[in-house]
Amino acid sequence: MRVRQHVNPLKSDLLEIAEVPRIAARPSDAIEVELGSAEAHFLIDRARDDRSTQFVGVEIRHELVDATNVECARLGLDNVHCVFANMSVDMPRLFSSGSVRRFFLNFPDPWFKSRQHKRRVIGPGLVSEIGRALAPGGELFVQTDIFALALDAMAALEADAASFCNIREPWTFLRESPFGAKSRRERQCDLEGARVWRLLYRRVSR
Ligand SMILES: C[S@@+](CC[C@H](N)C(=O)[O-])C[C@H]1O[C@@H](n2cnc3c(N)ncnc32)[C@H](O)[C@@H]1O
Repeated sequence: MRVRQHVNPLKSDLLEIAEVPRIAARPSDAIEVELGSAEAHFLIDRARDDRSTQFVGVEIRHELVDATNVECARLGLDNVHCVFANMSVDMPRLFSSGSVRRFFLNFPDPWFKSRQHKRRVIGPGLVSEIGRALAPGGELFVQTDIFALALDAMAALEADAASFCNIREPWTFLRESPFGAKSRRERQCDLEGARVWRLLYRRVSR
């Protein structure tokens, strides 16, 4: 099956995906979500270590969602699944308020050219939706190898001090990932020796 390398999330059919599911955890399970999960390598790593958490990938390439769900079933991981949705518009349909323990945005944007700024996913709108969906004390982890994107994400989070608090200090990156899981792009950066910028923010209690 051919999987497209990129899609434009602002294309009209991707702004109006018909069947976006409501994500609800099994009773007593927590939910962790990767936004832009691709093949969900990061979630699969985490799911192997923690069978009592439900891991959900949100991905805009439909064919990749189907292939990843088949692969998770083949691996016998019933605590990971991916959904076809556009994180830029579908957060209210996907998540009820305070329902998610942790969001991950791993290498979110290939759109780093200035003329493609409007396609960037992390901005005040997404930050506000993540803040709404996070449980009190919940976390948002962002990592990217593009410094300008890391700085933009940090600026958006620092600007929302009523909702988010930097785990270290304001305007400070993490030294390393606290998660024993790696996404495909993260492994590629390791191979290339590329520097990765990481941020971790906690949801301030309402
Ligand atoms: C650069 S890739 C990174 C994939 C993976 N997180 C990793 O670290 O290897 C970004 C992913 O986000 C997806 N994506 C981009 N915009 C999206 C959107 N608005 N909603 C959901 N997924 C999106 C892309 O299709 C792609 O799979």
